Amino acid sequence: MFHITDIFRSTFICPKDLLTKCGWKNNDQLPDDAHVLFFFFFKFLFLCQSVNAMLLLRRCHRLNPIGLLSIDRNQVAPVVASCAVRLCSSNNDQRFHQHGFSASWRHVLAGLLAGTGVVLAYGLHHHKAIEKSSPLPIISQEEVTRHRSLKDGVWVTYQGGVYDITEFVSIHPGGEKIMMAAGGAIEPFWSLYAVHNQEHVLEMLSAYKIGELKAEDLKKQNTFKSSDPYSSDPERHPVLHANSLKPFNAEPPPEILSDSYITPTAFFFKRNHLPVPQVDPDLYRLHVEGLPRGVLTLSLEDLKTRFPKHTITATLQCAGNRRSEMNKARQVKGLNWGVGAIGNATWSGAKLRDVLLAAGFGPDVAQWARHVQFEGLDKEITGSAYGASIPINKAVSEEGDVLLAYEMNGKDIPADHGFPIRVVVPGVVGTRNVKWLGKIVVSAQESSSHWQQNDYKGFSPEIDWDTVDYKSAPAIQELPVQSAITTPAEGSMIDRTEEMLTVKGYAWSGGGREVIRVDVSVDGGKTWKVAKLKSSDKEGDQTSPPLGRAWAWKLWEITVPLPPEAQELELICKAVDNSYNTQPDTFGPIWNVRGLLSNAWHRVKVKITEDDEEE
Ligand code: MTE
Repeated sequence: MFHITDIFRSTFICPKDLLTKCGWKNNDQLPDDAHVLFFFFFKFLFLCQSVNAMLLLRRCHRLNPIGLLSIDRNQVAPVVASCAVRLCSSNNDQRFHQHGFSASWRHVLAGLLAGTGVVLAYGLHHHKAIEKSSPLPIISQEEVTRHRSLKDGVWVTYQGGVYDITEFVSIHPGGEKIMMAAGGAIEPFWSLYAVHNQEHVLEMLSAYKIGELKAEDLKKQNTFKSSDPYSSDPERHPVLHANSLKPFNAEPPPEILSDSYITPTAFFFKRNHLPVPQVDPDLYRLHVEGLPRGVLTLSLEDLKTRFPKHTITATLQCAGNRRSEMNKARQVKGLNWGVGAIGNATWSGAKLRDVLLAAGFGPDVAQWARHVQFEGLDKEITGSAYGASIPINKAVSEEGDVLLAYEMNGKDIPADHGFPIRVVVPGVVGTRNVKWLGKIVVSAQESSSHWQQNDYKGFSPEIDWDTVDYKSAPAIQELPVQSAITTPAEGSMIDRTEEMLTVKGYAWSGGGREVIRVDVSVDGGKTWKVAKLKSSDKEGDQTSPPLGRAWAWKLWEITVPLPPEAQELELICKAVDNSYNTQPDTFGPIWNVRGLLSNAWHRVKVKITEDDEEE
């Protein structure tokens, strides 16, 4: 005998047990008909409960022996119906007779099951009918291509679906970039900007689905298998911490930065927006345009032999360096750089000034020219090149030291850093130091590139992505004063028996302003000590560069006694440049939506371990 509670439990756990409880065993007596009826009655309720519950129960492997639970949603109704038919036609089934089922009970059960089958069949049919009555329309590629502007609508295709992303484009900050995919497939766009091909983006996209791409157009799309545009990117040192692989963006561990005054090329941060272009040095040509003598075309050899070679030591810093700290204060958008999107190298090449003079720059041009635009050889899928510009005064100034560099740290510039020519604009934000330089244009206008017009601009903390007006802010050129602690690392354990602690870091300021002091605190900013500055790897070298041409960083170091009682220390550094600019203490007041110019005091927390803790 069993109880109703058993039936509930068993119905949801294991009907086989229930059947056993019912006595459905060879040579055993079945329980009386009333109990069997209960069993089928509750089973019926259970069946009616929901098809989804059934699908859930399919996961219970103990249910598999009865087979019913290994069927799918569409099979439920036929199976139930077939059970009913089998019950009705089981007059000759010895088991039923053996176990005492009378014909009347069988008909009742068959009726219940048939009813369930009908209900389920109706539900499924109805469900299918709804699905069928509202299928998405089939849209041709030709139709999609007609929608490539905000006016006509912005449509894209993705894996055979057609999406109307007009609304999304108008509210998305990088909207104009997405426009590159307008009227076509989004896959090649995502193979270039792999960072967008993420689950949450796909989820957002699904809300904009308006149709299915015509089968033959999809077939055509599939025959065009885009090869990986990053497949020819160079090898990189494994010590680099990659913030994104395609395009490649990576920084070295902080402690490497203060190991040597000149950052070894392999450890120098890499900031690419696009695949690294492959340039044949023999075929390389640089075009200089916008000057009265027409276009000047120079080979690599011309640049090396027709102009004097100059060498400078200059620090290059990405505007997004230390973004991860600003991001902690309040969320920003961009690669999550630590303190390593900065490096110091020697650069050799022809002076831009000399090349512009050779191309016809003179007082007449100075009357109207305001900017020098640079174009890289790395291109978007639309064919538009990476670009940026700098003010003409910086470009032609004798003291500006802008180089068309072909060497980095005494060797040919490597692929990642702009082979064969990159412009080095010392004192100016990394983004204007255009790599793989293909074209120079002297102009009254700034570069029209996205990176000059929209990206790499600073805004007030009150501005967010809904209110940002790119035109309202000038493009970043000279960077503000910066410093960071490179060692010890955040969370380090300091052994108290050592008694002294050495803190190291870098400091630099934009526009050729020299760092004149770095203050370090080991008690969260209550007290400060001045660190020792280094202008090279030579012990005690504190030489100053010519005024206004301090292009290179200073490394700094300080050794302080460990405070006796403290168990945790907050180390802080802040630099001061020769215009007495210094760094703000927190990120709140300098927060900006894109996480640029992140130069608040750098704070590192370390723990002091006691002897007995170690044992
Ligand atoms: N130039 C080209 N052609 N393409 C780029 O993606 N990135 C810029 C700049 N020049 C870039 C470029 C940015 S944002 C920075 S910070 C520096 O290159 C990084 O230079 P690096 O990779 O040599 O460190």
